[in-house]
Amino acid sequence: MDPPQTVPSSPRKKRPRQVGASMASPAHNIKFRELVLFILEKKMGTTRRTFLMELARRKGFRVENELSDSVTHIVAENNSGSEVLEWLQAQKIRASSQLTLLDVSWLIESMGAGKPVEMTGKHQLVVRTDCSASPSPGSQNTLPPAVKKISQYACQRRTTLNNCNHIFTDAFEVLAENYEFRENETFCLAFMRAASVLKSLPFTIISMKDTEGIPCLGDKVKCVIEEIIEDGESSEVKAVLNDERYQSFKLFTSVFGVGLKTSERWFRMGFRSLSKIRSDKTLKFTRMQKAGFLYYEDLVSCVTRAEAEAVGVLVKEAVQAFLPDAFVTMTGGFRRGKKMGHDVDFLITSPGSTDDEEQQLLPKVVNLWEREGLLLYCDLVESTLEKSKLPSRNVDALDHFQKCFLILKLHHQRVDSGMSSQQEGKTWKAIRVDLVMCPYELRAFALLGWTGSRQFERDLRRYATHERKMILDNHALYDKTKRIFLKAESEEEIFAHLGLDYLEPWERNA
Ligand code: CTP
Ligand code: MN
Ligand code: MN
Repeated sequence: MDPPQTVPSSPRKKRPRQVGASMASPAHNIKFRELVLFILEKKMGTTRRTFLMELARRKGFRVENELSDSVTHIVAENNSGSEVLEWLQAQKIRASSQLTLLDVSWLIESMGAGKPVEMTGKHQLVVRTDCSASPSPGSQNTLPPAVKKISQYACQRRTTLNNCNHIFTDAFEVLAENYEFRENETFCLAFMRAASVLKSLPFTIISMKDTEGIPCLGDKVKCVIEEIIEDGESSEVKAVLNDERYQSFKLFTSVFGVGLKTSERWFRMGFRSLSKIRSDKTLKFTRMQKAGFLYYEDLVSCVTRAEAEAVGVLVKEAVQAFLPDAFVTMTGGFRRGKKMGHDVDFLITSPGSTDDEEQQLLPKVVNLWEREGLLLYCDLVESTLEKSKLPSRNVDALDHFQKCFLILKLHHQRVDSGMSSQQEGKTWKAIRVDLVMCPYELRAFALLGWTGSRQFERDLRRYATHERKMILDNHALYDKTKRIFLKAESEEEIFAHLGLDYLEPWERNA
């Protein structure tokens, strides 16, 4: 228990005169010693500042009256990062490398929680600087090191699922997809990168001025932003959504096993609906596509978290029946905190097993499910790990682990104990499941690679190559300068090897 706090009703008279101007009031106990706050008066006003300082101190925060070298965090209201920075520079104080600029929302949430809450992207004040070479006031060269500028690499941006620029990113994703369908890689990538960078912003773009200094926004992208700001929608997006080719490709690729090539063929043949394709006697389907059509409704309805957890139990039971010491980790979108997914991904690894036991595990698991009547589709891909020595240069390369792409029968009763399974007829749902088996010593690389997002992974590899002269893939990290493989037991160690601040899985939703 904390000792009762004495809060004098008339603090000015009773409180002893402070020795140093920057000392916190001795009337309050400091509970959180590692933080030294300074609240900026600019744009906040004296009254509100005094009120917040008093309140914060009562809650156990150390708040300085004046800016000094001991300050670790600056809290500001209605100021952008650049504005705080400008003010800081005018104070002629040597900015400490620990200095972090926070929005007042962090302080308010922290006081509400009775302790400092985690500082996430939405609390951090962003300094908008251009990534281009010429240094201008407030650009890279004059920034105190702790002030964040927006990186062109997703692995240097914290991207949670709180996207406050949906209106723009949804539009970009439609355009990127359309360019993908038309095999225009350059524009596809441009719109994917633009969507990714906007997802990381702690603020909503409301005017073109807000886009200044944000990387990855080319002219084409900016035109779309401008139109959406002005008209609430983009004419280009509208046209794409009404485009026959786009609509058909979107529909065809929604079938498991149907990619761009097949869609192209069906479109050229004049098909526009799935029912016509399904009932056509002349078309040949792959085993994958047959399964895709057979379980179409279930597979397009997406997997909920409750279903994913239930599949997790199923996988763990089967895996540990054969290798009791095996670890089963849910990866992919669900590990990043998503509430829905198109499949459920798992990484399996076992510290004590031999190569043979390792190789036999997935076939055994799949066999068990087959005997239990749970296996609706299975594509087992054997490991090709031996054959490759170096990590791949191709940032989108597939990995060499043994894996299987499955469709499993998940009985409703295994989800939330059958609460919602009272409907008639079918008592199960078909679920797409990916299982990956990796050698224990490579688990950190495999986990990082299979957690995604795809854009995050692409940028991580691009960053390793261009900024660190290293090659990263799902199995290894190779330092080209030192000519050695860098070992890692955890994702944190891989980030550290790359000189990156660690990002939690839920901050990788780039
Ligand atoms: N991945 C990979 N190699 C593959 C397939 C996937 O490395 N052959 C990685 C990708 O980096 C991806 C992650 O595994 O980020 C999960 O892939 P996927 O299930 O396709 O995407 P999710 O992010 O899980 O999205 P969803 O919720 O739609 O499943
Ligand atoms: Mn997934
Ligand atoms: Mn997957």
